[in-house]
Amino acid sequence: MLAREDHPAIEGHEVLIVRLAAFFGPRGAAAEDPRHAAPRDRDAAAELRLVVLRMEHRALIKRGLDALFGRHPGEDIGAHAKRIGAKEDGRAFTESAVAGVADKADVLPGYPALTLGTMLMPAEQTIATLHQAIALGYRAFDAAPIYGNEHAVGEALRTAPIPREELFVTTKLWNSSHRYDDALAAFDRTVGRLGLETVDLYLIHWPVPTRGHYVEAWKALVRLKEEGRVRAIGVSNFLPEHLDRIIDATGVVPAANQIEINPAHQQAALRAANQARGIVSQAWSPFGNGGSLADPALAALAARLGCTPGQAVLRWHLQSGVHPVVKASSPAHLAENLAASSAPLDAADLDAMTVLDRGASCFGLDPHTFEAPAGYEDYCP
Ligand SMILES: NC(=O)c1ccc[n+]([C@@H]2O[C@H](COP(=O)([O-])OP(=O)(O)OC[C@H]3O[C@@H](n4cnc5c(N)ncnc54)[C@H](OP(=O)(O)O)[C@@H]3O)[C@@H](O)[C@H]2O)c1
Repeated sequence: MLAREDHPAIEGHEVLIVRLAAFFGPRGAAAEDPRHAAPRDRDAAAELRLVVLRMEHRALIKRGLDALFGRHPGEDIGAHAKRIGAKEDGRAFTESAVAGVADKADVLPGYPALTLGTMLMPAEQTIATLHQAIALGYRAFDAAPIYGNEHAVGEALRTAPIPREELFVTTKLWNSSHRYDDALAAFDRTVGRLGLETVDLYLIHWPVPTRGHYVEAWKALVRLKEEGRVRAIGVSNFLPEHLDRIIDATGVVPAANQIEINPAHQQAALRAANQARGIVSQAWSPFGNGGSLADPALAALAARLGCTPGQAVLRWHLQSGVHPVVKASSPAHLAENLAASSAPLDAADLDAMTVLDRGASCFGLDPHTFEAPAGYEDYCP
């Protein structure tokens, strides 16, 4: 394989342009530059992949978008915004919301704000989908024992042509293993399925207050972090009273609380509670499991912003300081979502999003009472 240093002419952002242009067609400067032609043979593709893999994820998106949307080298962002018709007070497409959010609050240093979800991704498709996602620039992946594909997520990461330390994997402790020793044993089984030595972010999947053992589970996660088996620990679906109990009991604040957030279920109070405690809000089902995107009001907003409904929703998440965990399996969706991290919504756009909140969970799940899906009552992975 050829090293990056042997090819100073190939800049990492151009690789992203090639890949994004394959889906959207090149625009602006990218359209006129012959260096942006798609690779024609396997060797060229391998070289390009090597360059992509050596690029830092967020810088790649930022620089790629500069060129993709036609910002001239050295052009001031305001002038660019004006030229492309974006709002003058905006930061145009080139100010990556991903970078902006992550700079303020990071789950882990370098952890991208955009994570790829894997729920309902059949195990036999997971490896190919994750490899495709990695080639496009995704670096963070969300798994859980109950999704039934932890082994495939692990295999995809182990066989990806990039170093493990550049990838981030989140997985979760299932509800049946909250007792201290059970939690440690469940973690052993999880890393066994993943085939990885460490997990980047390990979450308690649900608080299950009806059983009342989540403080024990948190103590087990604290131990796993102290032992270096996980890089960061957090929770999911925790309400403020659950957060305060585990923090009071251990003095350890979760890095993240992964909760349902989408246009129909915006959870402003819970997001504020996370923020007040210095906890990153991650959004599960950021598209309402796909259902949110059909809202006609969103189509109108997207048309005004010049993007797709999915991109408008992702922009809203990122601008709200939320890290979305979005699931996509089609190549077009994968690329579209990765390219969404840019232009800000203005006050009217944010108002248009706020009125979509119906306070309704897309799966009807309530953290006060949820224990297991029907048919999974005895599930103990
Ligand atoms: N912690 C928890 O309790 C919890 C609970 C639920 C989910 N999660 C995590 O959150 C992740 C995401 O949630 P989710 O899977 O429910 O749903 P989601 O991300 O809200 O939506 C996924 C659906 O939207 C479609 N989609 C993706 N990008 C699109 C685009 N640009 N335009 C149109 N459609 C698009 C996908 O289609 P294709 O697949 O066909 O591309 C899929 O059908 C899960 O995969 C899981 O990792 C966590």
